[in-house]
Amino acid sequence: MSSSMTDESRSLFEDEGYSSDDSTASTIPPSIWIGEDFQGRRYHAFHAEKYPFPDDEDEWARLKILHDVWLAALQGSHVLAPLIDSQLLAVLDIGFGTGDWAINFAQQYPNALVTGIDLSPPRFIWGTPNLDIVISDFDDRWPRQKYDFIHSRMLAGSIRDVDDLVRNCFHGLNPDGFIEMQDTLPFACDDGSWTGSSLEDWNSLMQSAARQRGTDLAIALRYESAMKSAGFQDVSLHIRKLPVNTWPKDSAFHWIGKRLKRSMLIGLSGMSLKLLRQELNMREDEYQVLLAGVRKDLCDHKIHAYLPMFVQLLNICKSLTRS
Ligand SMILES: C[S@@+](CC[C@H](N)C(=O)[O-])C[C@H]1O[C@@H](n2cnc3c(N)ncnc32)[C@H](O)[C@@H]1O
Repeated sequence: MSSSMTDESRSLFEDEGYSSDDSTASTIPPSIWIGEDFQGRRYHAFHAEKYPFPDDEDEWARLKILHDVWLAALQGSHVLAPLIDSQLLAVLDIGFGTGDWAINFAQQYPNALVTGIDLSPPRFIWGTPNLDIVISDFDDRWPRQKYDFIHSRMLAGSIRDVDDLVRNCFHGLNPDGFIEMQDTLPFACDDGSWTGSSLEDWNSLMQSAARQRGTDLAIALRYESAMKSAGFQDVSLHIRKLPVNTWPKDSAFHWIGKRLKRSMLIGLSGMSLKLLRQELNMREDEYQVLLAGVRKDLCDHKIHAYLPMFVQLLNICKSLTRS
């Protein structure tokens, strides 16, 4: 592999009780899948340049921690949809990333065949015979098969045409199937405590850069209207506000905030690199000063920022409305 975890990320990751083997153990992908490096980070090769975040060990560690944060935010569940085991034969996970969700879900529902699609190959999926991985671009080729449940998580920044994606999901579902799109919105703060901070500045620069690339980091706000226009009914929304660090006193939020901060400290440069340096042409010195400020703000308990982790839109597909 062309890159491995930085020492700083490794210690942030291991301090949280993770083994770096959890992040870095992988089937070595065939060289055809190993993408270009950009300033020391590795990116996906298939449809290169499509997705701005790296596909390397630091990014996997960020996603691994976020997977646990999602589970905690949903009280240990992988989904909120009222799934019935015996009716769940075919499941699709769009943009499976590290595969943590798809692997866990496949193990929880051994009778279902779970298919994951992504631009990047998986790290490892052995030991999960009912999980199938397809390297594919969801903007380009949509699976022909019908599914009983379609899931996506954290596709903000990946979706170019939300109406098209949701329409494909609608037509790709069996009657009475479910779709569940889990996502985050950009960071927010309700009490003004981040006004003028580097974190606030970074947050809006990231949104401008994503818009310039034709994507939207607040895409989750458009899920509901896309679902309704596609023909879904009974759309429901669940929102969680997750603290960016351990500023809340509540112990459950404290646990989440600790991990969210780690995931941000590990993932910050990977998330920012292409969007700020390439898309917005930010100068190296400005970029480094901004990121240093964000790292400081992420550790500042006087800043009461949170991640709207969010949009848990849970939808029922009514067979009658499908054409
Ligand atoms: C932030 S990661 C989320 C991964 C995973 N769903 C999770 O919750 O950990 C977004 C994933 O979407 C994939 N992706 C982005 N654009 C895509 C596209 N057009 N087709 C397929 N996968 C895509 C990326 O490669 C990346 O693995």
